[in-house]
Amino acid sequence: MPADQEAPHLEAALNQAAEWLRQAASVAVLTGAGVSAESGISTFRDAGGLWEGHRVEDVATPEAFRRDPLLVWKFYNTRRANIQSVRPNPGHFALAELERQLGPGRFTLVTQNVDGLHRAAGSQRVLEIHGSIIRVRCVGCEKRETRTDALAELPRCQDCGDLLRPDVVWFHEALPEEVWEQAMVAVYEASVLLVVGTSAVVYPAAGLIEVSRANRGRVIEVNLNATAASERVDLSLFGPSGEVLPRLMKLLGPS
Ligand code: OAD
Repeated sequence: MPADQEAPHLEAALNQAAEWLRQAASVAVLTGAGVSAESGISTFRDAGGLWEGHRVEDVATPEAFRRDPLLVWKFYNTRRANIQSVRPNPGHFALAELERQLGPGRFTLVTQNVDGLHRAAGSQRVLEIHGSIIRVRCVGCEKRETRTDALAELPRCQDCGDLLRPDVVWFHEALPEEVWEQAMVAVYEASVLLVVGTSAVVYPAAGLIEVSRANRGRVIEVNLNATAASERVDLSLFGPSGEVLPRLMKLLGPS
């Protein structure tokens, strides 16, 4: 559809969203795999999902790692190599710009993604509630380290010699407590919560929508289509985040 014929309600919704953002004392953002889709990273639940032939239980659970760490590391080393060649897209950059415009203390980005693309785009206050595949953690001494180099097939801790694992949250695991608490506080305090590119079916992350609503935050969703969250948000902006978010920033104008 040409832009001028495109759903007139998107234009109106964008204006409404810009208005709310202008008035906001602080803003929180929750992102999911959809925000990185235009960078070429597959999402989890759309066709061609991320697991590339692997069942989640074989590669993304603590049980899988105990059973076959080599298989798990093969999977993650492939993903780590892939991440080196992808770049942030205009959606990531627009969120970094929003943070610059709002200034320190008025913006928090909570992401379920482990790809590091928000920071690569310049976002500063990023809470990675599902961890990061750029980091590793020792299963013995728990030491965490950022490693962008190619790792051994079965990497080991230089300090204690135990196995390293990707520092991500696997299925059946709890979220990192401190990071999750910071996310809840930021979302509770924010006047607006932008929910971008997530199917909003995985908890506790999806519960941040209720956290915002509990303190009368306005919730704005950006997604290709309706999601499990759509009925609980105040406004939906339907379209690719790499297009919708830059349009929103254009409406907001320079600070
Ligand atoms: P999903 O794959 O469940 O959802 C991706 C969402 O992005 C869908 O709602 C799509 O419609 C939307 N989408 C796709 N392309 C888009 C685009 N260009 N612009 C805007 N939206 C787009 O991914 P998540 O919601 O992130 O957890 O999944 C949540 C969690 O489930 C993941 O963090 C992961 C997985 O289990 C763990 O690994 C712990």
